Parts: sequence; structure tokens; C-alpha cells
Amino acid sequence: MAILVTGGAGYIGTHTCVELLEAGYDIIVVDNFANSSPEALNRVKEITGKSFRFYQLDVRDRSALEAVFARNQIDAAIHFAGLKAVGESVRSPLWYYEMNMISTLALCEVMSKYGVHKLVFSSSATVYGASGDMPVSENSPIGASSPYGRTKQMIEQILQDLAASNPEWGISILRYFNPAGAHKSGRIGENPSGTPNNLMPYLSQVAAGRLEELSIYGSDYPTPDGTGIRDYIHVVDLALGHIRALGRILDSSGLNIYNLGTGRGSSVLEMIAAFEKATGTHVPYRFAARRPGDIAVSCADIRKARQELGWTADRCIEEMCEDTWRWQANNPEGYDIHENRFMTALLKM
Ligand code: NAD
Ligand code: WQD
Repeated sequence: MAILVTGGAGYIGTHTCVELLEAGYDIIVVDNFANSSPEALNRVKEITGKSFRFYQLDVRDRSALEAVFARNQIDAAIHFAGLKAVGESVRSPLWYYEMNMISTLALCEVMSKYGVHKLVFSSSATVYGASGDMPVSENSPIGASSPYGRTKQMIEQILQDLAASNPEWGISILRYFNPAGAHKSGRIGENPSGTPNNLMPYLSQVAAGRLEELSIYGSDYPTPDGTGIRDYIHVVDLALGHIRALGRILDSSGLNIYNLGTGRGSSVLEMIAAFEKATGTHVPYRFAARRPGDIAVSCADIRKARQELGWTADRCIEEMCEDTWRWQANNPEGYDIHENRFMTALLKM
């Protein structure tokens, strides 16, 4: 079986490529390095000892994508490629709609043309908005609160229309909660550009001394310790969830949506304590105002993925912290991707 992986050089993509190769799949990776580095793919090869085909292209470029389908026999696609920063999407909504929507339309059109009807799509818990019911199940009301989240919500709708239009389609929409951690080898991990927005990379850069202190956004939430609660999921568990979802669509058709989380929430203070304990580091912090748009608690109802995919996330927050730290300590500058980002910034101008 040969699987096309779009955005395979990114954080979740690299970890999924490792698990796909180790499960015996052939992979064909496409990425434009808008937010990643060729070095990440070298490391996937190094970890697995396996090689694979790679094409540097923008998924929005239909003719380049068609050439990949023309040259390779492809059975299914996992579509990670996209932009994911909530704040940036508020500042540059058109860029987010262009990148996330057009790339998905192009991919689905080319897949249809080449008779490939099996797709796993990266969605996000951010589509749920702030309904208040926790844990959230796949049937909970959706209502994304940022342009980024709305791209995911709209793509989900498009995929539902597509699946309804042709019974050959088998589509899994995976709503990730809060991915964290890194591969055990310490060779691949999350590689944010500039100052991180998300808790785990920020926390690890404070522990490494690259940033002075962590600001905890809000200490007065209606949670036991007053700080925000999230469902952090180890990126390797997440990657394994893709293998299960892929296995299911290869055997069946129709569209299914799955939450991928652990079903357990941890507060910011609990994450800091777990990180300090697991790594023997110290993380200075101060309390700051709530971050606009944040909700108090986000936690997944994971029963559907357990029942239908036979999948659960087993790795605990201590393991996420240990693995994040190994990656951070071994790669203080990440993969050094400044040049690519500079090119991307130029392209946007
Ligand atoms: P990432 O930025 O590390 O990876 C995305 C990859 O896609 C990068 O390698 C980037 O260069 C590539 N890319 C972007 N636009 C492209 C295009 N038009 N053509 C070709 N390549 C392109 O992000 P990630 O954390 O690995 O996320 C992967 C997917 O999962 C994204 O769709 C994201 O929205 C979704 N997601 C991520 C999180 C998270 O917290 N990391 C949570 C929920 C959902
Ligand atoms: C987690 C908790 C913060 C940073 C985001 C996206 C979401 C999805 C996953 C892509 C919250 C607190 C954070 C800091 C803090 N991505 N925090 N200080 O906001 O739950 O989800 O990533 O789809 O769309 O919105 O994750 O890691 O930013 O925050 O106190 O410096 O940590 O307030 O309670 P979030 P996060």
C-alpha cells in the first residue's frame, strides 16, 4: 500500500511517516517547507532506516500534484499540509483561507481524477468552540472562533459533501486535541518558528533558558487550580491513531469523524509540575491575564475512536514532558529552518 502524505515534513507529519514506514506502508511525501525543513525528512529516514519518495511542491499547485499521481501508484492520502497558528489566522485571514481551503480542494480534485478515494484529514478540537459541555463528543455542537478554526470547519463540511456525492469515498476526519511530546529518539519533534504560541514548546524553551519565564494565561478559571485545562496527547499516540484510521478507510467507505485525545485533562500548573519532575529542570512562571479566545477546559470524549478504531492514547503527560525535553535539549535550534521561512515570507509579500 502506498500512502501520499501531504505536509509530511511537519511536526505531526514526521511522526506519522515514521509509524507508517514501521507498519510496512510505502509513503510518498509532499511538502513546500512553509513551516518545516528538509532535515526533518532526513531524520525520518535515519530513525526508520527506510527511504521514500519526496516531492517539494505546494499542494495548491494542481499540475505539480497531478504529476505526483501520474508517476506513482497511490492508494490513499493523509492530508496534514496547512497553516495552524490561531493568532496569525486572525491577522491574515485571507492567507489562511487560501492556504488551507485551496490546497484541500486541489488535493481532492486530483484524487478524484486518479480514482483515489481514501483520505485521512487533520482537523482540530478548535472546531468545537466554547459550547461548555465537557468532555466533547464528535456530536457536540461545532462553532470555531478563529479563521484558522473556520478553515477546518469548512473543510469538514466540504468532505461531508464529497463523501455524500460518491459512495467510493472513505474519509476519516481526525479532530486532534493538544499534541505534545516527541519521538523517543530525540531526533524529531516540534519546531516552532520564533517565540512559540503553545504551552509545551514555550515551557521547554523556558526550561532550556532560551526564554526567561512562562506567562500563565489566567489563574481564575473555574478549574480546581484556576488555570486552563487541556487534553494533551502524545504525538506518537496521535500518529498511531492515523494508522488505525487509515486501516479502517482502506476497508470501508463513508465518512467518519473521530476525536483523538486521551480523555484526561491537565491544568497549566499540572503540566509545569510534571515537566519539572520528569526533567529535573526548573520552570519560572508568573500569572498573567487570560488570553483572548481561550476556554477554561477542553477535553475529548474518546469512546468513538476506542470502539470503532480500537485505538487509545496510552502515553502519559510525564512521558510527553520527558520526550519534549530530550528533543529540546538535543536540538536547541530545532532543524534550523530560517532560510525556508524567509523565502515563505517573501512569497507572501
Ligand atoms: P506543521 O506546520 O508542523 O506541519 C504542516 C506541514 O505542512 C509543514 O511541513 C508545512 O511546510 C506544510 N505545508 C503547509 N502548507 C503547505 C502547502 N500549501 N503545500 C505543501 N506543504 C504545506 O503542523 P503540524 O502541527 O504538524 O500540523 C499538521 C496538521 O494538523 C495541520 O493541518 C494542523 O492544522 C493540524 N492540527 C495541528 C495541531 C497542533 O497543535 N499541532 C492541532 C490540531 C490540528
Ligand atoms: C494550552 C493552555 C493556555 C501558552 C491550540 C490551538 C488549537 C490546536 C492546539 C491546532 C491554555 C495556556 C499557553 C502560554 C499558557 N492547534 N498557555 N501560557 O490554545 O489549547 O490550542 O493548539 O489546531 O487550535 O488553539 O493550546 O498550547 O496554546 O494552550 O498559560 O505561554 O496553556 O492559556 O490554557 P490551545 P496552547
